[in-house]
Amino acid sequence: MGVHVVMNQKGGVGKSTLAMNLAAVKADVLTDPAGERGVSPVLAVSIDPQGSAVWWADRVADLPFRIAQAHDDVGMLGRLRHLPGIDHVIVDTPGWIGDTPGATDNGGTGYALDAVLGSADLVIVPIVPEPLAFDPTARTITKVIEPLGIPYVVVINDWDPRDGRSDLEQTQAFVRSRGWPLARTVVRHYKVHARAAAEGRVVTEYGSSRVALQAREDVQRLCLELEVGAK
Ligand SMILES: Nc1ncnc2c1ncn2[C@@H]1O[C@H](COP(=O)(O)OP(=O)(O)O)[C@@H](O)[C@H]1O
Ligand SMILES: [Mg+2]
Repeated sequence: MGVHVVMNQKGGVGKSTLAMNLAAVKADVLTDPAGERGVSPVLAVSIDPQGSAVWWADRVADLPFRIAQAHDDVGMLGRLRHLPGIDHVIVDTPGWIGDTPGATDNGGTGYALDAVLGSADLVIVPIVPEPLAFDPTARTITKVIEPLGIPYVVVINDWDPRDGRSDLEQTQAFVRSRGWPLARTVVRHYKVHARAAAEGRVVTEYGSSRVALQAREDVQRLCLELEVGAK
């Protein structure tokens, strides 16, 4: 049983991409093929009122996990550890402006976030290897996650090896200088990820080209790293 929350107040760092694809690789190994069709013990929950994860999921013909849009269902969000038939929950969250998501200009997002953070075993904080992502990531960790004492891990996403290692190494150095836990797995930039939502695919359905396999390998490695390290 585990509730993992993907969170960073900065938009565009890959929260929805990682939430959907981590759910897909978990479901790939955990769903009983002999079980009732479509019934997976893995649930992805979106509390982003703009619902990009659900928009994506709606386009996938044979979604391998369950999905719920629940930004306004605080009752359900408070029971994420106790949902019948569900062993693994991964929550996709919206970004926000300001120090904390409870501020009035964030449209009530704070209530939903409080509810999921109350059930979280681990917060996954994606960061992209660009200095612009550093400050919002720092605020997310120091103002929201650390005060609650929830275990968390920063994951570098969307690194393009063709750009060389300097942005990556600068980002790794920044995270380590702050003393934050950093996943060893780096999720590389692949166009297949960027196209997946519009094409109605999750990472387990990318096919078997070399690029597709590399894109899948990153998410599988990340999932393995998080599951063996997290309790
Ligand atoms: N590893 C990656 N490779 C290529 N494109 C990516 C990757 N991660 C995210 N993207 C793309 O970047 C954009 C922002 O990602 P998204 O998951 O929507 O971020 P967030 O949910 O944090 O706002 C999307 O178009 C997504 O497809
Ligand atoms: Mg998103």
